[in-house]
Amino acid sequence: DKYLELVNAGLGRELASRLGLPQPSVLRRYQQGAPLFEGSALVLGSSSGAEALTAHLLGEGFDVRRHVDGSVTFGALILGLDEVTTPADLSEIALAAGEALKKLRPNARVVFLARPAGAELDPAVAAARHGVIGMMRSVAHEMRFGGTANAVVLSDGLEFTAPSAVGAVRFFLSGRSAYVSGQPLAVTSASGHLPADASRPLEGKVAVVTGAARGIGASIARTLRRDGAQVIVVDVPAAGEQLAAVANEVCGTALQLDITAEDAGERILAHARQRYGWLDIVVHNAGITRDKLLANMDAARWDSVIAVNIEAQLRMNRAFLASEWFAQDGRIVALASTSGIAGNRGQSNYAASKAGVIGMVASSSRLFEERGGSINAVAPGFIETDMTAKIPFVTREVARRLASLQQGGQPQDVAEAIAFLVSDQAGGISGQTLRVCGQNLVGA
Ligand code: NAI
Repeated sequence: DKYLELVNAGLGRELASRLGLPQPSVLRRYQQGAPLFEGSALVLGSSSGAEALTAHLLGEGFDVRRHVDGSVTFGALILGLDEVTTPADLSEIALAAGEALKKLRPNARVVFLARPAGAELDPAVAAARHGVIGMMRSVAHEMRFGGTANAVVLSDGLEFTAPSAVGAVRFFLSGRSAYVSGQPLAVTSASGHLPADASRPLEGKVAVVTGAARGIGASIARTLRRDGAQVIVVDVPAAGEQLAAVANEVCGTALQLDITAEDAGERILAHARQRYGWLDIVVHNAGITRDKLLANMDAARWDSVIAVNIEAQLRMNRAFLASEWFAQDGRIVALASTSGIAGNRGQSNYAASKAGVIGMVASSSRLFEERGGSINAVAPGFIETDMTAKIPFVTREVARRLASLQQGGQPQDVAEAIAFLVSDQAGGISGQTLRVCGQNLVGA
């Protein structure tokens, strides 16, 4: 993204500012050993969530303030909105947060502590809780200099002291969520735990990544390896050479396999069992596009997209669930897409398959949770890969800038979200679809 480089250099910055052009910032991305966030934290509100996070951050050695404080600037702002009972309750924290937004450092993180607005609630409580999400999405649009805003929506009956809740808040505070903004993330159980070694949360785990010869899949393989996992990379035989290179790079093993094969799940399990003894983590990343307006669609385009992007995943999941070699607390993450949420012209086949992924994880969640595991999806927006490099220049530029973060994401951004969701600190999250889209302004 040459424009991003240009507007972050002296003359380019001044020019962009004078002409009122978009000014995307260089994002703070996760680096092993770096602090969770830079500078002080501000925790607003007196809810039990606010108290729990204050105690956690103090315990981690952060400077934590409870109100806007003179010249202090903040790298993290936490809003304890988990006990609101009527929309009027939002006012006090909303106005204090407004003051605090002026004191945020570049690449700051705002995290809303929220509760779900279920249909069984009193209407005023539901309105207040839903209001929190509306406020969060708007604050995300207002963030500047690479900052993000997101919400952890914790089920009633669970406390913000639970490791699964703390794990989700830590994800949003960290560089791992650099390209995630405007998103609510539901934490629905207390299972899971914080890792012994924060820099290697996947130590001892065996993971498989499909479609890992290039692009996002290769980045996922590298990221899981960095976080301590042993990695099996899968791709079609035609990509064998690239696949072998990725396998070498991550000190893992390669399995040449077309995932639409009837026995793809069994072959992955056999490989994992033979080489490592078992399988803990599956990332369903392999995916294809065959774009055409529906009026011009043919069976080959339609059927191949459905076969690779969703039918293969459904079949493989059945094999994993039936196998004693797939860990009881096994975790699966599947790649959806914002096209599967908002739809996209020329992508009715792709959107059907990716919306299918969202339905699949929501409905399979119970089966995985019963075992102590989880299944979730990640929905990337515009990510800088070979696929998006082929988009015509003007369309590509528009797609990049039409997001709150005013830039495309990197494959690493998708990989970081996935590495979090397959880790035990995300144990309380299942059946969810997390968007990694820089708060794309198009669609839902
Ligand atoms: P890519 O086309 O660069 O890589 C996909 C990989 O999957 C390739 O190596 C390919 O050989 C492999 N693959 C395809 N069919 C296969 C099969 N039947 N069996 C085994 N491997 C197979 O794609 P990219 O951009 O890295 O995307 C990865 C995933 O992320 C896909 O599921 C895609 O739909 C999704 N995604 C990508 C976005 C983007 O902006 N690049 C946006 C939203 C979702």
